[in-house]
Amino acid sequence: MKHKHLYLLLLISILPFLTSCDLSTGNNQTEFSSKKDQIRETFLDSLMQEMTLEEKIGQTVLFSAGWNVTGPTLDENYIIYLRDGMLGAIFNMHSAKGSKEFQKIAVEETRLGIPLLFGYDVIHGHKTIFPISLGEAASWDMEMIEKASRIAAEEASSTGINWTFAPMVDIARDPRWGRVSEGAGEDVYLGVQVAKARVQGFQGNDLSKYNTILACAKHYAAYGAPIAGRDYNTVDMSERELRTTYLPPFKAAVDAGVSTFMTAFNELNGVPASGNKFLLTDILREEWGFEGFVVTDYTSINEMIPHGFSKDEKQAGEQAINAGVDMDMQGGIFLRNLETLLAEGKVSEKRINDAARSILDMKYQLGLFEDPYRYIDTQREKETLSKPKYLEAARDMARKSMVLLKNDNQLLPLSKNKKIALIGPLAKDDREIIGSWAAQGDRTGTAISVFEGIDDLLGSDKNIIYAKGCEINDDDQSNFKQAVLAAKQADVVVMVMGESHQMSGEAASRTNLDLPGVQKELIAEIKKTGKPLVIILMNGRPLTLEYENKVADAILEAWWSGTMGGAAIADLLYGEYNPSGKLPITFPRNVGQIPIYYNAKNTGRPYNPVLPHNTYWSRYLDVDNSPLYPFGYGLSYTSFEYTDLILNKQEYSFDEDINIRVTLSNTGKYDGEEVVQLYVQDLVGNVTRPLKELKGFEKVYLKSSESQLVSFTINSDDLAFYNLDMSFKAEAGEFKVFVGTNSDDVLESKFILK
Ligand code: NOJ
Repeated sequence: MKHKHLYLLLLISILPFLTSCDLSTGNNQTEFSSKKDQIRETFLDSLMQEMTLEEKIGQTVLFSAGWNVTGPTLDENYIIYLRDGMLGAIFNMHSAKGSKEFQKIAVEETRLGIPLLFGYDVIHGHKTIFPISLGEAASWDMEMIEKASRIAAEEASSTGINWTFAPMVDIARDPRWGRVSEGAGEDVYLGVQVAKARVQGFQGNDLSKYNTILACAKHYAAYGAPIAGRDYNTVDMSERELRTTYLPPFKAAVDAGVSTFMTAFNELNGVPASGNKFLLTDILREEWGFEGFVVTDYTSINEMIPHGFSKDEKQAGEQAINAGVDMDMQGGIFLRNLETLLAEGKVSEKRINDAARSILDMKYQLGLFEDPYRYIDTQREKETLSKPKYLEAARDMARKSMVLLKNDNQLLPLSKNKKIALIGPLAKDDREIIGSWAAQGDRTGTAISVFEGIDDLLGSDKNIIYAKGCEINDDDQSNFKQAVLAAKQADVVVMVMGESHQMSGEAASRTNLDLPGVQKELIAEIKKTGKPLVIILMNGRPLTLEYENKVADAILEAWWSGTMGGAAIADLLYGEYNPSGKLPITFPRNVGQIPIYYNAKNTGRPYNPVLPHNTYWSRYLDVDNSPLYPFGYGLSYTSFEYTDLILNKQEYSFDEDINIRVTLSNTGKYDGEEVVQLYVQDLVGNVTRPLKELKGFEKVYLKSSESQLVSFTINSDDLAFYNLDMSFKAEAGEFKVFVGTNSDDVLESKFILK
């Protein structure tokens, strides 16, 4: 068996160290880690020495098994490459049985028996689907987000997957872009926390464990800022904006030990990300010290030709590998061109060696050389998928992710004896609810619909009158009548409205962010009945909801909430859980306001509605400047009051801690959780500074009538920014501090940094 040879290599690498250190007990931890690193290096050195150029190039090749289609299909027979030892990894395969078959070929039939990596888009759960990533971010609960990624890794790894193409850490401020659904929203600080939590969740503390998998920070970089929100479109931005807003979550992923990076599809300032040396080498490896490997996005090297950056595939390959790409996803460019490029002196042997070695290194860290079948265990797969405790966690995450946008006259929570008319295209849905990029999530009816969730909670459907009313996205109004009839018979109407899962996500940009089809028209008809109206939204992005906000008494943003979504929604509707989610992204009033985000600059002519003469100010003639719902916004069934914002001093030196305290009181009649948010404004800078920047938050649980002192500590490092000369440091001067319930509704104080 070929793999025996690798064992031998492994053994030879360990031998010299066996005498000098007790590897098993690790008495001296530092010495132990350094020996382990030396063993790894020795093994990789010996393996690299044995490999032919072709085999090294083979490691840089990744093809899809085609079980799922996540991009343009290519006519590549990857099995031939696999047998020839010309394949480093496979993606889009997701069963222990399937991966075993392929791993066996790699291990037993190729010359050196080097095992494969198996990649997959495990984004918000694998089989047990959690809320979409944007929804998870709305929980502002890092422990829970880490746990959700941990469970996703547990499930995925039991099916043979050892590499996820997640987390997506792209900051996104344009809800026309469908992929806002896959990230953590618009804010840098929140994005950084979420990136760390997700990497930690997927990778755990030891990659060689059977249930931890490689994470992949994507899409590097600035993919979330395409012009006009059209997917894959051009990105052009200053280096200051890039470093201030778009890079920090990627850097945070590196600091959290992320193993791989994925390049973006877009060009950045004229250079496609997959050929961008500035991003991939200068910043990622040299500045940040990233030691994993870089994979491209799907055929994105090939796409440098239509970008107008490469004249042919060969040049594209040369530009990509020299920029710092290590693995080519689905394009076959490295496979077909690296050898020639080396012969022509356009690519160095060292560069090819570095790429191959960085991939082998990750295989080593996963423990695949020790046991190539570590992640492949049909029994574990059976026992692991959809465990009840995972489903419970998914329900919990879903509850935490939902944001109460409106609740006039405390219409919610509903009392159980009310007769409800449950209306809308998503009221009985159990397919759309798991959202886009739902990995192995089931679209055949196993997810809990809202109807089912309510039925379960009430113990019967006798208080539910159901009517679909209309489809998600067509113009048929023929079922309106029946829905109106249902509404008339009920005490309260609950409408479940939104997008289909294909309407947000990759290649799903929209220019109209209203509820699609005739859903608004249906709402209008139902409104005429005069019944109290609750709207539940299932969608992947901020929608424009001015009309709904006007006519509904209560609105709950439930996102696509996953396998247990319907149960979680029922929990919130009937007060089994008190909503605590806060928007991780601004909801605009209309599309014309986009991009609209809370940490904008002031301009030289900031609009002030209080001033009498309002002509020459930065504003729209036809709509207010403010969003419909600001960043950080979200209501609770209880009410919270903020008082006594106090700083321990008024002036601070650069090395002093700044202590900020506020009293939070639960003044309502329900127990509940509040996300206390801390923002700062640097009033004057050598480059202009945003109106507000999130610098901290804390999720606090308070019983009704309870109060708590909440404190934050920041220092001058937290006030640093990219100065005129691009140095990253804080500047002396005056600052405002804000603490409150969302980015708009805050208490204010100030301090001086000297
Ligand atoms: C294209 C997407 O942009 C990326 O996010 C995904 O990981 C790959 N396809 C693989 O499916």
